[in-house]
Amino acid sequence: MRVGILTGGGDCPGLNAVIRAVVRKAERHYGDTIVGFIDGWKGLLDDITMPLDIERCRGLLPRGGTVLGTSRYQPFMYDDGPERVMATFARHELDGLISVGGEGTLACTNEMGALGLPVVGVPKTIDNDVGGTEMTFGFDTAVHIATEAIDRLHTTAESHDRVMVVEVMGRHVGHIATWAGIAGGATMILIPEEPFDIGSVCDSLIRRHERGPFASIVVVAEGARPAEGTLTMAEPEIDQYGHQRLGGIATVVASEIEARTGYETRVTILGHVQRGGTPTAFDRVLSSWYGIEAIDAVHDGDFGSMVALQNGEVVRRPLAECIAELKPVHPGLWEAAKVFFA
Ligand code: F6P
Repeated sequence: MRVGILTGGGDCPGLNAVIRAVVRKAERHYGDTIVGFIDGWKGLLDDITMPLDIERCRGLLPRGGTVLGTSRYQPFMYDDGPERVMATFARHELDGLISVGGEGTLACTNEMGALGLPVVGVPKTIDNDVGGTEMTFGFDTAVHIATEAIDRLHTTAESHDRVMVVEVMGRHVGHIATWAGIAGGATMILIPEEPFDIGSVCDSLIRRHERGPFASIVVVAEGARPAEGTLTMAEPEIDQYGHQRLGGIATVVASEIEARTGYETRVTILGHVQRGGTPTAFDRVLSSWYGIEAIDAVHDGDFGSMVALQNGEVVRRPLAECIAELKPVHPGLWEAAKVFFA
């Protein structure tokens, strides 16, 4: 068989491990040829490819980022986009396409599938918000990075009797904030799923500080928003792909905390550090398992499916069902997180 692969959307640790796994099983087990498309869907739109073989994948397992490059370009941004994608696919005489991406890339993969492109999806994103799977790869690495940062902030916060507001990624959901917040012993966690009241946040901090400990760590997801009418926020900028450019909520939260409580407050925005560098062992294993399952799905003709982690096992699920809804933080976990607030 001849099989294409692309990585789309924001990069994340583990993408190279997926590519390596697909290539390894495809070449050794099936005798396939793998064609890598550069910069996500842009590679299919403009026919920019890179040959991939086992030799080319040496050393890739622990490397962050993606050797294929990535972008947020999508076929549906252009009137003739889907047609161009189909033409590239046919020109390379491909039998299937493995599309590795987050919500945006997978939604587009599903639409291209509906137009007849034989696709298999692989869910990636540090945000862990793709539906139908317990875990996307990249998330575990991001949680480790954020937790380490919070651990480090504890000692400096305690030394100065300060409040530290730490902003982590999490556009629509607060998985990273919740996991790293619990793991790092945060005083308070603010997530997009639960609009916050800054007045109550400050009241809780005051109660805590009156009890004795004079340092607090507030973890805020970049997509967290105040409850209606409680705090005015500037509208985020929109990037060239129509995405809101998030980042900066921590600054607003910190200045409100300082103004309302009088506690000295500092801000740390972790940003893209959470997406860079080597994947954790867990993410390497999950990415490898996803890659193997994806190439097997292509060989089984299981198109329109997405590989997913369910009950500790990698399975295939209908892609359309997986992209129908984002996966929020589990309500049970959120209740557990709240027990440790303030
Ligand atoms: O991939 C998801 C994500 O990391 C979000 O958490 C974040 O909002 C976004 O990507 C940032 O994207 P960009 O790389 O375009 O700044």
